[in-house]
Amino acid sequence: MKFTLRLLGATWLTAIVVVAAFSFVSIQAERARMTEDFERRAWLLGEGLKEALEPAIEKGPASRIERIVKRFGTSTRGIAVYDRFAGLLVATPEVAPRLPPSLPFVSEAITTTSVKKGFESLGGRDTYYFAIPLGEDRPQGALVLLYDATPIEQRVFTLLRNYAIWLLVLGTALSLVMLVVVRLSITHPLGRMAEWAKQLRSEATLPPPGVGDPSLFGPLATELSGLARSLARAREAAEQEAMLRLHGQSVWTEERLKQVVSLRLNDRPLFVVSNREPVSHVWRGREIEPRTPASGLVTALEPVMRACGGVWVAHGSGDADRETADARGTLRLPPDHPRYTLKRIWLSKDEEEGYYYGFANEGLWPLCHIVHARPIFRPEDWADYAEVNRKFAEAVLEEMSGTESPVVLIQDYHFALLPRLIRDQRSDARIAIFWHIPWPNPEAFGICPWQPEILQGMLGADLIGFHTQFHCNNFLETVDRAIEARIDWEHFSVDRGQHTTYVKPFPISVAPEFVEDPPKGSRESLLSDLGIDAEFLGVGVERIDYTKGLPERVRAIRRFFERYPEYRERLVFIQLAAPSRSRIPRYHELEEEIGRAVEEINRELQTKRWRPILFLKAHHSHREIWPFYRWADFCMVTALHDGMNLVAKEFVSVREEEDGVLILSRFTGASRELRDAVLVNPYDIDEMAEAIRVAIEMTPAERKSRMARMRQVVKEHNIYRWAGLLLTDLARLPVEDLGARER
Ligand code: G6P
Repeated sequence: MKFTLRLLGATWLTAIVVVAAFSFVSIQAERARMTEDFERRAWLLGEGLKEALEPAIEKGPASRIERIVKRFGTSTRGIAVYDRFAGLLVATPEVAPRLPPSLPFVSEAITTTSVKKGFESLGGRDTYYFAIPLGEDRPQGALVLLYDATPIEQRVFTLLRNYAIWLLVLGTALSLVMLVVVRLSITHPLGRMAEWAKQLRSEATLPPPGVGDPSLFGPLATELSGLARSLARAREAAEQEAMLRLHGQSVWTEERLKQVVSLRLNDRPLFVVSNREPVSHVWRGREIEPRTPASGLVTALEPVMRACGGVWVAHGSGDADRETADARGTLRLPPDHPRYTLKRIWLSKDEEEGYYYGFANEGLWPLCHIVHARPIFRPEDWADYAEVNRKFAEAVLEEMSGTESPVVLIQDYHFALLPRLIRDQRSDARIAIFWHIPWPNPEAFGICPWQPEILQGMLGADLIGFHTQFHCNNFLETVDRAIEARIDWEHFSVDRGQHTTYVKPFPISVAPEFVEDPPKGSRESLLSDLGIDAEFLGVGVERIDYTKGLPERVRAIRRFFERYPEYRERLVFIQLAAPSRSRIPRYHELEEEIGRAVEEINRELQTKRWRPILFLKAHHSHREIWPFYRWADFCMVTALHDGMNLVAKEFVSVREEEDGVLILSRFTGASRELRDAVLVNPYDIDEMAEAIRVAIEMTPAERKSRMARMRQVVKEHNIYRWAGLLLTDLARLPVEDLGARER
């Protein structure tokens, strides 16, 4: 109400000021115009009369003057003639009674021999006067023309009245328009927003009402949605905690991780290092777009950082990354509710080429994955790798310079040298490195020309994590054979000099909510969006990588349709494939190879209304992937070798209704935990074809019980547990180790 009154007040004030200014200007103009009219008329008449009166005033007789005056005087125009002493000689009868004995402007006209004009009140009436001296050099008197000026005042009054009416009409119209606009654009939408905000308390994912101007209410709606989601999450977490306590269970939740981390880390920030950043910014035309990379590591670590806070140091790889960070390369994430800092490290093209594409992905990646791809070891790549590790070490040391006994969590094979580099500078740091890919047997690893440097670098850590015990054993055996160190097989640790490194499995996982507020929609809407019709739907979600077994999968699908032709036109397999590391020739060739293989099977088997494989080659966000997981009858994860594979766990985590079948490669870390998947050897095409049949012919009851058990595993072994156990172990390192190190 106050706002409306203020708005109306302002409207009226504006209308009054505008109309007043306008009327002032136009009244002035009207006055000037009418005065000019008097003057023009007076001048014309005065010139004529002057000629007639001058001889008469000089020589007389006075009766002649009187005659002239009477002849030209009218009711609205008086004429008076004065002698040279400004004494009245003759005046028309209408004005004579109103004239005072002397008039100053008459004397002035005579003494200055110039025309005097203006307004004067004569006998209580406004009068325009025009006084002309009579006689050229020595004036003999003066002629005064007097006009009734009341029409000017009448005109001014009429104008003022008209403007007042205008003001009323304009003010009222503006007020009405304003009231309608306020009601439609503000009061009404605000009311709906308030109603929505009220409902958000119970249903946090309710979409905002479609209220008018998005530029006005959009930011408010976004803020409110975020707030509601946070509240709902907090409430959910509290309820979950209470429920777990009630049942005496101890599932790891975001809240529990927060508590554990703050207890173990004594509220010190956590420092995480990875090559891949949680979000990169890229130019799309003239717009900057945030992009979550297709990376298992990011999927796993992002929720941990949200829970723990701290600093995440990573390579700034997006072409708009500099524009979206501050001068130090940092930004707070997530943007709508910042919980941690991302510190971007800038690498030159050459550094990226040698360290990332070269040594990490053409050397270590095929070295650790047993898929019979030959590693390439170039000395210049190794030099870049070492240099970039040093660069990251500097940045991490700078970030943690003010923190006592900082806790550092290093990720993956990109940073094998980093633990040692940090340890050398900060003996008080607690350092863990988690190796997200497999560790092969000592013979396989032994071909790496820089094996000792890599092992010594890693052993700078206090804790080395792998996904499985098998990889831990491979690592310890590699150390045993390659360098001087004492392996303690009882505690799974390595002693070198004063320093002990523990080696333990921590199977990584996903957060329970793969996508917060998942998209609405149905299987039908997904199929119609894709323009396909299918009774059975299979899905695969991968980066295009030779370890993922994609060509083998395409062959298995072909074999399935050859063996079971009755499923043609009934089953469609959708492959979401994110191009990855395409600058490496092997990856580039693979992209082409898979494209050709899909094209071939589609060409051979397709009918008028059906194609066996839908190949969607693009980067897909989690939100975009969600409906595929949710509505597929089965998901194929048939990697030839994989440290863990989070796609398998993502698929299971989405299937809330406990349906769907997972076909999973025996050679993934995930297969150790998800024993209820249909396990396959991805090199065995017949076995995989058979697995597809088993998946779609499995009874609903069996599907349900298998999925329920797998969901229980993923629920319990979630990402919060992974981070919680890892950080707890790191924090619990025997104190004497730290003491010895400092001596
Ligand atoms: C593997 C690695 C991850 C990496 C992912 C994506 O899963 O273990 O560390 O995030 O591949 O690879 P990229 O090279 O695109 O980061």
